[in-house]
Amino acid sequence: MIPPATVAGALATATARLAAAGIDAAPREARLLVGHALGLDAAALVRDPARPLDGAAGTALAALLARRLAREPMAYILGRREFWSLELGVADGVLIPRPDSETVVEAVLARAPDRGRAWRILDLGTGSGCLLLALLSEFPEAIGVGVDRAPRAVAIAAENARRLGLDRRCRFVRGDWARALAGPFDIVVANPPYIRRGEIDALAPEVARFEPRAALDGGADGLAAYRALVPDLGRLLGPGGFAALEHGADQAVAVAAIVREAGLEVFEILRDLAGRTRGAVVGPRPPRAG
Ligand SMILES: C[S@@+](CC[C@H](N)C(=O)[O-])C[C@H]1O[C@@H](n2cnc3c(N)ncnc32)[C@H](O)[C@@H]1O
Repeated sequence: MIPPATVAGALATATARLAAAGIDAAPREARLLVGHALGLDAAALVRDPARPLDGAAGTALAALLARRLAREPMAYILGRREFWSLELGVADGVLIPRPDSETVVEAVLARAPDRGRAWRILDLGTGSGCLLLALLSEFPEAIGVGVDRAPRAVAIAAENARRLGLDRRCRFVRGDWARALAGPFDIVVANPPYIRRGEIDALAPEVARFEPRAALDGGADGLAAYRALVPDLGRLLGPGGFAALEHGADQAVAVAAIVREAGLEVFEILRDLAGRTRGAVVGPRPPRAG
């Protein structure tokens, strides 16, 4: 590709190529890619459309564009994604945080209104660390542990904690759910893999080809991770503790059955922004009065 000579030319070329590839948000993504190639934000691009692009910037842009045209997610190309107004680093091998998962954070804040308490929080399958770091940003005295089986996720979550200045209040460790942990915790959050294995290849190419299978694959029926981790919640949660679990839109009944089988109770069903059931707040049954 001949490097377009100015910012305006680069934006026009990038937008046209992304749109021709069927990418809906072509103008916005073009701005982000041109800005990334030049190390400039969108406002600087708008201010200076006649700014020349040198050969190195043109080459960098061509490489970024090729990645996006191959359907690599923007978050991996830019190396970041916003979650709960926090900028998180993400990379190949780590699930990109989704806005729907903010439902889990909201549910915890609603059920644990005392912002000043030193809550002990566990995040199972922490990925980028998004759920735990969002909660630590809201609870200034809280401490937490994030567990993931993927070493890359553990490293990136720890790096995110450092960049956000939250690292003194949390640890990220490798593990198979909570098998090696004792507790007690006041709050457990988890967004486990819950896609049915047979449905992964039909997802958008950005997800199916680029996001880690281990973060998506919930086994044949999508429920394997809940069967593995829910039975441990009773021993992990201290008195009055609760867990907020994300699940797929059609899994509320099945997850509730796993929760009850583990001797726990469903306190609340969570819905996403579109009103679909997307999670549950669960915990030990409160002791009977008298
Ligand atoms: C759907 S992703 C969620 C990531 C992050 N919490 C979020 O909401 O974006 C599920 C995560 O669980 C991790 N995981 C899968 N199996 C695991 C296991 N047996 N023990 C611990 N973590 C596991 C994956 O590596 C992945 O990071």
